[in-house]
This record gives sequence, structure tokens and C-alpha cells, in this order.
Amino acid sequence: MAIQEAETQRPAAKRDYFQPRRFGHANLYIGEIERSMDFYRNVVGLREAYRRPRILAGFLNNGNTHHDIGMVSLASKAARSTKIGINHLAWELETQVDLVDGYRRSIADGIRYDMTIDHEISHSLYFKDPDGNLNEVYADTEMRWYKQRFGDVLKPTLQWTPGDTLPSDKIHYEPNPDYVRVEHAVFHPIKITQAMLVVDNYEGAFDYYTKNVGLKPLIGGHATPYCVLGGTCGLRDLALFRAKPNRPAELHNVKFVVWSEQDLEASIKRARNEGIKILAEIDHPSRRGIAIADPDGIRILFYVDRTKSTPNLAGIDEETAFYLV
Ligand SMILES: [Fe+2]
Repeated sequence: MAIQEAETQRPAAKRDYFQPRRFGHANLYIGEIERSMDFYRNVVGLREAYRRPRILAGFLNNGNTHHDIGMVSLASKAARSTKIGINHLAWELETQVDLVDGYRRSIADGIRYDMTIDHEISHSLYFKDPDGNLNEVYADTEMRWYKQRFGDVLKPTLQWTPGDTLPSDKIHYEPNPDYVRVEHAVFHPIKITQAMLVVDNYEGAFDYYTKNVGLKPLIGGHATPYCVLGGTCGLRDLALFRAKPNRPAELHNVKFVVWSEQDLEASIKRARNEGIKILAEIDHPSRRGIAIADPDGIRILFYVDRTKSTPNLAGIDEETAFYLV
């Protein structure tokens, strides 16, 4: 079943700086915070977890982790962009020891980070891919987010120097999540599973996401038209496609796995009845899915996989391929 995560495989000999488990969250720049929070609660079907009202930021999850989606309004003083779309993509590590160890080895090799932050629930490093997309590599801390991270968070985020605090070698993510289902919503996702990026510098992005972030190639490689990369949980966490004249570099879509095909069909029927614009419909031997746009035009795919095998995209039209990978 698509939601099943394989046992984490911890490599005996470390080669890469980091070995992310999985795609943790997408943080998006959005236009208007209330409109987007309403949409992600009532249409997408995520539970509101917490907000940072001072920076017009909101965070939602379904029990898998502290947030599947984070969002910051472009009107926020904290916004470092004027463009709707990606703020950052976040990659979850096994432990804080892995985070600090990878940080030290990467710094020794000349890699530089834009920010290093203590979020209380996680310690995080931020650095950009060659296209300028910000990525966060993080490890959860002892703070129990599912008990302590609800409502308004007013404390500002703090700068953090990796290694200044003793890193824990314990696992602090939730290994057996108590998934939440937002019954009143149109869709019923279990969790976010993938970001699909179109990039200008494809080769540079492939090198960055495999070497600097530490994802493993699952489909394609350095010289192919696209690739799919994954963490140690065994999911297809990131897809990269080359930009072309009619295909601009952007966060093309984020994907959410839903509970069942029957559940998805009911959501599709309801979406049609409620006049929700459907961008694409996937009915392929490997996957059933439906893509819609959020209030700012950010594409979201809800899907369920029909097979465990990775799809063969030969002969598949481009728009379908973006949602099938
Ligand atoms: Fe984040």
C-alpha cells in the first residue's frame, strides 16, 4: 500500500552528508493567509496545527509530522520573496546527531548554509539548490509537537549553531503516527509525499539533491529528461524535470496520498458537484489521481497508487507524466 513506509535503512558506512528519511513538508509563499488556511483545511483536508501570527504564517498536518504544509503570506515581513510558490522544501533526518555530523562534514567541504535555526520542535539547516530554491534539512527535537504545537506560537525562531547544544542520538519523529482524517473536507489525504520541481539547472539540481541533500536516485539520472529521488523510507519524494521554453522553472506540484481509490472517487464526485476546477485527471494502470489548484494556483495532486512498481513514462504525455512520477 502506498502509505507504507519501509523500515529505515541506516547505511553502515556514511558517504553522503545526510540521509533524509522522507519529504517532511512544503513551505509555500501564498497571497492571503486566511483564504489559504481555509482552503487547506476545508478542501485539501488538513488539520490546522499552529500559526505564527506575527509573520502571517500557518501550519497544517494530519498527524504524520508537525506540518505537511507551511505557508507564509507574501505580505509578511518575514517573506524573502515576492513570488507565489516555493518558500522551502524540507527533508527529515533520523536524529540530531545525523544533522550535526552532516553539517560539520559539509562545512569542512566548503558547503555554506543560509540559516541554521532552532524551531523548538526541530533543528534546521537551510541552503539553496542551484536554481535558488531553498531547502531545509532538519531533525526533530524532544519537544512533542503533537501535544505542544497547537494554536498561536508567539516566541520568535532562534538562530542556532549546530553542535552548541548536545545533539540527541534518539529518534524524535513519530514512528507510528496517529493519522487524522478531516471528515468535512472535500479530500482526505494521509500525508504529503512528493514535490515536483521543474528546474533550469537540471544537472546542478541532480547533483545538489543527491550529494548535498542526500536523496537517492530511483528513476533516471544526471543525463535523463527527468528523475525521481527518494529518502530512506522508500518513497518517491522528489521529482525533477528540465525546464524548456514552454515549461518554466517552478514548483510544479505537490502530491498527497489518500486513503483509498473508493475514497478518492467520492472526493472527485464532490469536487465536481462543488465546481472545484480540475486541472488533470489521472487514470493509469499505476495510479488514480486528480489535480486541483490552491487559491494561488499552486497545483496539488491527490492520488492512490494501483501498483507498487514505478511507472514507465515512455509515450506518456508531459502533463500526465508530471502527476504520474
Ligand atoms: Fe520548514
